[in-house]
Amino acid sequence: MAKQKSIYVCQNCGTESVKWIGRCPACGEWNTYVEERISKESNRPGLVEVSRNAAPKPLKEIEITNERRLDTGIGELNRILGGGLVPGSMVLLGGEPGIGKSTLALQMALGLNSAKVLYVSGEESAHQVKLRSDRINPTNQDCLILNETLLENILNQTDGVKPSLLVVDSIQTLYSESIESSAGSVSQVRECAAALLRYAKTSGVPVILIGHITKDGSIAGPKVLEHIVDVVLQFEGDNNYLYRILRGVKNRFGSTSELGIFEMRGNGLAEVPNPSEILLSHRDEGLSGIAISASIDGVRPFLIEIQSLVSTAAYGTPQRSATGYDTRRLNMLLAVLEKRAGFKLATKDVFLNIAGGIKVNDPAIDLAVIAAILSSTFDYAIPGSTCFAAEVGLSGEIRPVTRVDQRIQEARKLGMERIIVSRYNQKGNEKLDFPGIKVVTIGKVEELVRELFGKKEE
Ligand code: TYD
Ligand code: MG
Repeated sequence: MAKQKSIYVCQNCGTESVKWIGRCPACGEWNTYVEERISKESNRPGLVEVSRNAAPKPLKEIEITNERRLDTGIGELNRILGGGLVPGSMVLLGGEPGIGKSTLALQMALGLNSAKVLYVSGEESAHQVKLRSDRINPTNQDCLILNETLLENILNQTDGVKPSLLVVDSIQTLYSESIESSAGSVSQVRECAAALLRYAKTSGVPVILIGHITKDGSIAGPKVLEHIVDVVLQFEGDNNYLYRILRGVKNRFGSTSELGIFEMRGNGLAEVPNPSEILLSHRDEGLSGIAISASIDGVRPFLIEIQSLVSTAAYGTPQRSATGYDTRRLNMLLAVLEKRAGFKLATKDVFLNIAGGIKVNDPAIDLAVIAAILSSTFDYAIPGSTCFAAEVGLSGEIRPVTRVDQRIQEARKLGMERIIVSRYNQKGNEKLDFPGIKVVTIGKVEELVRELFGKKEE
């Protein structure tokens, strides 16, 4: 009988230890070590099999094999991948439960009529997959569905089927016979992913793994997976809204600054080629508390609407709440307004919301946040044809942002007539001059107040 070997594995970062430890020395988490048994003596081959007599070669002698990328049939996805799926590559598609990972993968599988796709579903029965595919694409259903969670069986099937694309939904449901711990544990996830990677590299078939994300945003089963796969895509968005953002987090074959926006419809996901148009909803209604920001995520400029509500606090402690924006940053901006521009917001409730349920990390939306708060405080609507793009510093200075030209052009394309940016975005005496849009430059928060509401106060 094979010798039983058992190890303790940190469920957070995958560090192994021969004995149980209370606190992981690698990631610092408490109580994450779980005993996992490995029945066979480990004889895992390396990730990429190397022949015994491999010798080093100068780069110029290495031939590039024909890298014809597989078109996924979804434009946004192709763009994020850098032009399609590379043969033999492994892509991890991560996201919270219910965000639409299975929908995206199935939609792609159904759209590929020239390629033979094997869709392994460990989470849903074949019947459920069928129901879903009827909603998405009832006309083309040549894709093969396999309801299996045992790794060895899946690999057996791929030998017979010889697919041109393998989708595994999800990596956390797979288990291998060679490891005794339960499906979803670090050892199982790692072993199964490594076996699938070997399959991808030896057969040249691209593999898409679907993975769940834990609450703190890391892919469960966790960092180990991110290291071994070639591409990590993250699907994010708010379940209560229709819009979903697909982001490249790691890409060995392209850039990670690409991002795609999708809308969840009754019949699957639809690409959103021009996000600005849908993210701006009430442009002409003259409501107070709304400001538009020319933001950039990755390489894509788009205009988003910031909504704010400032009201007198009904209870002792004023509330500050932000959706899609960092609450700490909101508090900082409120403090700047209080200290530098003399607004008494300490007794006010402040609510902030980014339209569409999307989350923005771009610091360039600071100025629009401040403008929205001021607009709500004065109950004075900012014209719908004005937008903002600048960061705000602690001393109330308006700081420059990256790629201001691109932002201005996007704003102009969407019919904006005035954009307010930082004075420091101008190089020397050179004016920011764009036809069709007025570029206003300011250096301090006070100047923003004057620019927006100056005439009213006089
Ligand atoms: P799903 O792909 O199952 O999420 P995940 O695999 O990431 O857990 O999608 C979940 C949601 O998408 C579900 O709540 C229903 C919704 N949905 C639609 O709105 N339209 C559709 O056409 C489909 C297939 C799903
Ligand atoms: Mg799913």
